[in-house]
Amino acid sequence: MSLKLSHLPSRQKIKPVYPRSPSTIDPNNPPWPAYRGYHEYSFAYATMGQRLPTILGKAIEDVVLTLNQEYDEERVVDLVQCIERMDALMKELQAQAKLRPIIDDGEADVALWNKLIAKYFQGKTFMNAPWLFAEAYKYRRLQECFSVSKHWKNYDVFFRQKCDTFSRSHDAVFELSMRFAEPFVLKEHLSPGDKLEAERLMFMELTQICLWGNSTDLSLLINMTEEQIRSLQSTGGANLAATEKNILGNHMKRLWETVVSLRANTGGRIDFVLDNAGFELYCDCVYADFLIQSGLAKEVRFHGKRYPWFVSDVTKKDWSWLLNTMVYGHLFPNATEEERDSIRRLGMRWKQYEKEGKWVYEQHPFWCTGFTYWELFNEAPDLFLHLSRSDLVIFKGDLNHRKLTYDCAAPPSTDFEIAIGPMASAAGAPRVCSMRTIKSDVVVGLGPDGDQLAERLDKEEEGWKISGKYAVVLLSEGRPGEKVIFT
Ligand code: F6P
Ligand code: MG
Repeated sequence: MSLKLSHLPSRQKIKPVYPRSPSTIDPNNPPWPAYRGYHEYSFAYATMGQRLPTILGKAIEDVVLTLNQEYDEERVVDLVQCIERMDALMKELQAQAKLRPIIDDGEADVALWNKLIAKYFQGKTFMNAPWLFAEAYKYRRLQECFSVSKHWKNYDVFFRQKCDTFSRSHDAVFELSMRFAEPFVLKEHLSPGDKLEAERLMFMELTQICLWGNSTDLSLLINMTEEQIRSLQSTGGANLAATEKNILGNHMKRLWETVVSLRANTGGRIDFVLDNAGFELYCDCVYADFLIQSGLAKEVRFHGKRYPWFVSDVTKKDWSWLLNTMVYGHLFPNATEEERDSIRRLGMRWKQYEKEGKWVYEQHPFWCTGFTYWELFNEAPDLFLHLSRSDLVIFKGDLNHRKLTYDCAAPPSTDFEIAIGPMASAAGAPRVCSMRTIKSDVVVGLGPDGDQLAERLDKEEEGWKISGKYAVVLLSEGRPGEKVIFT
């Protein structure tokens, strides 16, 4: 029997209300609408449809170069199989295939990946899963191509390119090393107030150097000319003053007040969740060096990735390469004797920090998962606890920012604290700073007029969210010192 319902109100379109309530948020349903590969208005579309296949194609070319120089039969055959797996991945990517579980290749993150796929992404494809997850998944699958091999487990398809960004940055590298090779000393006759002001100015400039070091990211700028790189990396004072107006959400003043208060309490621990290797890492280290020398920090912890990630992200190998090439390398054939000496001295000082335990390099498996940092508290409680003991955690770059903010369409006026959820609101959450040049859709923390500002830029400057021309430096106070409780 069928009922006639002609007297009831007609069916209505029920729109979800954003932000979603905490109990309904999960990796497939972020607080605001997710970006997905099929969203043509979003950078997700170009990335999933074109950029990722291009990046994978270049990675295959790199392996072929290595293959052509290999002589041992067992290693050759093993590497050919890696290429076959990469070809298969390329086909899946282009066919918008469903995301399959990760093979148990002995990596520490397999269980985390497969839990996420089973719970939230069964049947989802490269194009209809949330962009952040699908993109991260592609890098995990790329790692799997090598980690199941016998001889090539630690092969890095992006290593050559990462080294190149540094060697192609001659001018900016020496601009900095010639200024910072000598340990930093303040002029003797300055009053305490003038000394503090001199340090503040230096801190502000170095913060910008650290920030803009993020704009030369390989995944976007693969075909840049030397000239374009030079202009992006320019470290001249006038240029820095001009670029500050491009920092659309700017908490640098509060950041300075924070580090000064740390020094008053005998100097704090500052953590960097690193982004890119090569030139950006070099800028991070110049900044961290200043933090140590000025006493603003007494310990700096650097968090890198366990394997190649989003093309240019720092691995332990990149970290060691940078420090060793600075001290022993012959990377800059046109450098003067003074320039070579300056970079060697910088490198030696940084290695000394490592020996003394003032600088520590770490690589937790969580950083290479598809989880956002909203889930850090639950999925990596040990890491949350560890970070909660830091006085300030600086997250570098675009991907970290996407993960902090759940990579969803929150209004640009959304407060940073709200956008990062538990990383600000959980008991014991550390102070968090995001230093990011804007290279993808999510933009928050622009203040009460942020929505209008973003609308104006949408109209006037196409591509403003992916050019790396604009940036944010955002700070969340967190709930430091409170006991972390896991229920
Ligand atoms: O593929 C897009 C992306 O994930 C964006 O987040 C950004 O454009 C780039 O890759 C990575 O940038 P970053 O190195 O600053 O995290
Ligand atoms: Mg990166």
